[in-house]
Amino acid sequence: MLLNASGCLDALTAPQTARAFDAFVTKTVTPLPRGGNDPIRIAETDVGMLNSIGLANPGIKRFLREVLPELAQLEIPVWVSVGGFSAGEFAETCALLDSRDDVATIEVNLSCPNVDEAPESAAEIVAACRRATRLPLYAKLSPATWNVADVARAVEAAGADGLSLVNTLRGMKLDRDLRPVLGTGTGGLSGPSLKPVALAAVHACFRATALPIVGMGGVASGRDALELYAVGAGAVALGTVLFSDPSAPVRIREELSAELATRGLSSVDEACGIAHAKALPRRKHLDPTSRVSTKLLQND
Ligand SMILES: Cc1cc2nc3c(=O)[nH]c(=O)nc-3n(C[C@H](O)[C@H](O)[C@H](O)COP(=O)(O)O)c2cc1C
Repeated sequence: MLLNASGCLDALTAPQTARAFDAFVTKTVTPLPRGGNDPIRIAETDVGMLNSIGLANPGIKRFLREVLPELAQLEIPVWVSVGGFSAGEFAETCALLDSRDDVATIEVNLSCPNVDEAPESAAEIVAACRRATRLPLYAKLSPATWNVADVARAVEAAGADGLSLVNTLRGMKLDRDLRPVLGTGTGGLSGPSLKPVALAAVHACFRATALPIVGMGGVASGRDALELYAVGAGAVALGTVLFSDPSAPVRIREELSAELATRGLSSVDEACGIAHAKALPRRKHLDPTSRVSTKLLQND
């Protein structure tokens, strides 16, 4: 399964690119509208891209009224990325999404500014979201923590159905006069330099939890995608590559098929986890259209 990474594709201006994915993930939406950060918000570096968009979005009310109905016309499952500044804010948005039949999954963006990413705080947010919705919940984690596996275990215990790994890492670029390029000084680093970080995070969380994982970070080729499957991803998302190559989903699917065939693997399911020295139990794979949390299925 191939997804876009949140914030890296405007499906309404590029519907053809969006339809090349198995599901569309929205930009993070917050309870109130946000204009985002002062420019400059994007900078290229030798090893990837920096962004300081600042979660610019129309706010949940306008999103539900105007954006979601338009996205439904794409006729692919829609995953809504949810952000907030407290557990209550996250839960409020999840409750509003719960009543909609045009949302397949909620991705809880736990790497929002001012959100404490300690395992206890992440678990508190996921638990609040869990109480607010029966929709599947994917917890999107930052790799900027010493032990991402601790956070993964905590959100699994709090009721997450899956993990999205990884969000960006904080970085900075200076101009010729040695001044920060970005308006906010620092921003999120994505693209090629994030791939080793993503591989390590997916590898660790695959061992630490039984949750299905959407892997992302620097995927620009079929080989990159295969590597994420090999460390334990059950699906892969494309982010930065979409800014330079809108045909990436089609190209990467083709390259991935060739990579699998070369190795005598019949599907990505067979590739999932093969980088692990000791085989781990197989886990349930993702169904992008399922609209009911696996946790509820287990507990009901
Ligand atoms: C311009 C830009 C905007 C982003 N906005 C969001 C966002 O709103 N929510 C989120 O969870 N991640 C956001 N991300 C992070 C991506 O979803 C993804 O986790 C990250 O870029 C790593 O993947 P990549 O290296 O393939 O880009 C954004 C990334 C970029 C480059």
